Amino acid sequence: MSFKIAILGAGPSGLAQLRAFEAARDAGADIPEIVCYEKQNDWGGLWNYTWRTGLDAYGEPVHSSMYRYLWSNGPKECLEFADYSFEEHFGRPIPSYPPRAVLRDYIMGRVAKSNVRQYIRFNTAVHWVDYNETSGKFAVTVRDLKQDKLNTEEFDHVIVATGHFSTPNVPYFEGLEQFPGRVLHAHDFRDACEFKGKDLLLIGSSYSAEDIGTQCHKYGAKSVTFSYRSQPMGFDWPESFTELPLLTEVIGKTAHFKDGTSKKVDAIILCTGYQHHFPFLPNELTLTTHNRMYPEGLYKGIVSLANPKLIFLGMQDQYYTFNMFDAQAWYARDVMLGRITLPADDAMAADSREWVARELKLVDPVDEIDFQAAYIQDLLESTDYPAFDVTAVAGIFKQWEHDKEADILGYRNKSYRSTLTGTLAPAHHTPWMDAMDDSLEAFLKVKQEQPAKETV
Ligand SMILES: Cc1cc2nc3c(=O)[nH]c(=O)nc-3n(C[C@H](O)[C@H](O)[C@H](O)COP(=O)(O)OP(=O)(O)OC[C@H]3O[C@@H](n4cnc5c(N)ncnc54)[C@H](O)[C@@H]3O)c2cc1C
Ligand SMILES: NC(=O)c1ccc[n+]([C@@H]2O[C@H](COP(=O)([O-])OP(=O)(O)OC[C@H]3O[C@@H](n4cnc5c(N)ncnc54)[C@H](OP(=O)(O)O)[C@@H]3O)[C@@H](O)[C@H]2O)c1
Repeated sequence: MSFKIAILGAGPSGLAQLRAFEAARDAGADIPEIVCYEKQNDWGGLWNYTWRTGLDAYGEPVHSSMYRYLWSNGPKECLEFADYSFEEHFGRPIPSYPPRAVLRDYIMGRVAKSNVRQYIRFNTAVHWVDYNETSGKFAVTVRDLKQDKLNTEEFDHVIVATGHFSTPNVPYFEGLEQFPGRVLHAHDFRDACEFKGKDLLLIGSSYSAEDIGTQCHKYGAKSVTFSYRSQPMGFDWPESFTELPLLTEVIGKTAHFKDGTSKKVDAIILCTGYQHHFPFLPNELTLTTHNRMYPEGLYKGIVSLANPKLIFLGMQDQYYTFNMFDAQAWYARDVMLGRITLPADDAMAADSREWVARELKLVDPVDEIDFQAAYIQDLLESTDYPAFDVTAVAGIFKQWEHDKEADILGYRNKSYRSTLTGTLAPAHHTPWMDAMDDSLEAFLKVKQEQPAKETV
């Protein structure tokens, strides 16, 4: 085919795009020339654990925000690729909440079986993207990290799949500079054992706060205090947890809160989320958004209204992950292959505005799950991505929400039924709170047959 595309990033979204083209090629289609730039030395995106924080070996920002002992925070049945089940990958059913290494193995398993690795230029960081109105092409400038050389290539389409949970959002609180202990953002958190026996303060009331807090508790933290800006998480926490309003200042080791209370703490972890950060995009092409269900400026949640030859994958806040990235990648592929004709600019803008207006009416997680399900369903209707029951998956997400409410330290012991294979996941051999070894080997070890306690 006579056009050329650049995929920026080889995390789950970028890999979904590669897989989408590979599937078309396997079905006999002519596909474009593809180059995928990845700054890390391997594929997998956030799922590549690194001990590094700050800058990498080449002076680029460390991408991964994942830490040791991280387990999936949602049931694997909700994120299964429609064309590659967990059962197919592992050769047998596995429990519903795998640790990071197991999920990584699954994500990579699908692409490892295809020929897509050849398209990826590892250790190559994208530094700038320009669009030339006259030629109708993008110039992508990258730094070959090993050679320390800049190179520029031209492309007809650019797919931005660089993720949005990597550049930390770091607010300031008075007195932090004098605090006589560790202050870090969740992005730099690596090992809960560091906080054994400590009194911890976590700012934020979303997934990172919840997960890092429970994990530090699991590995021996003395107490966990959450400080929220908008609202507490409200789980039925064990005794050593407290939820307090927002931190106002820190004096010495004492943290003061909006309600007038105070507490002595040993370390402060800012679980305050991430920024959508595209330092390689000029003003007229960039995506400006916070972490929301439907970022403004995108048609079908992916096509840039500023330039429809520019596509963004995975920029939404995420209930659905890998299967949503697939739905997006298949749609994007068909736009690029000319199988889907984009409407006129004003029609795309109007469609996007409608979704944003719909998003603004969502009141709770159940609404958000239904919204994301409807969004994915809308994408799926236009492509040949294998059918999967988006509504049934939404049902599992709702059950998951309920299971978390019921037992925040025990919800990962639950089992759910795959909507692809119909198999109910077996129970894990060890309850999550007692499972200290998060390796793939320990997780997959079959200890004894245990009947699964079905929740869905
Ligand atoms: C702590 C944490 C835990 C999570 N846990 C789960 C979970 O349990 N289950 C789940 O489904 N999801 C989870 N997620 C959500 C996560 O966003 C997705 O699973 C997934 O990793 C997103 O894929 P992505 O490809 O869009 O982005 P990423 O995984 O972030 O990948 C982006 C890729 O782009 C590369 N890149 C970035 N900038 C450049 C550049 N300038 N040049 C070249 N390459 C670049 C990066 O190196 C990276 O490989 C978690 C997120 C976080 C932060
Ligand atoms: N085990 C796992 O699988 C795991 C673990 C961790 C994270 N994750 C994933 O990582 C992603 C990101 O989660 P996240 O929790 O880091 O980000 P997030 O969901 O965007 O939440 C950000 C939190 O920071 C708070 N915040 C932002 N600015 C603040 C400020 N100035 N002062 C006080 N609080 C502030 C927000 O409060 P408001 O509510 O007031 O806005 C919110 O509670 C999610 O997709 C999640 O699933 C997964």
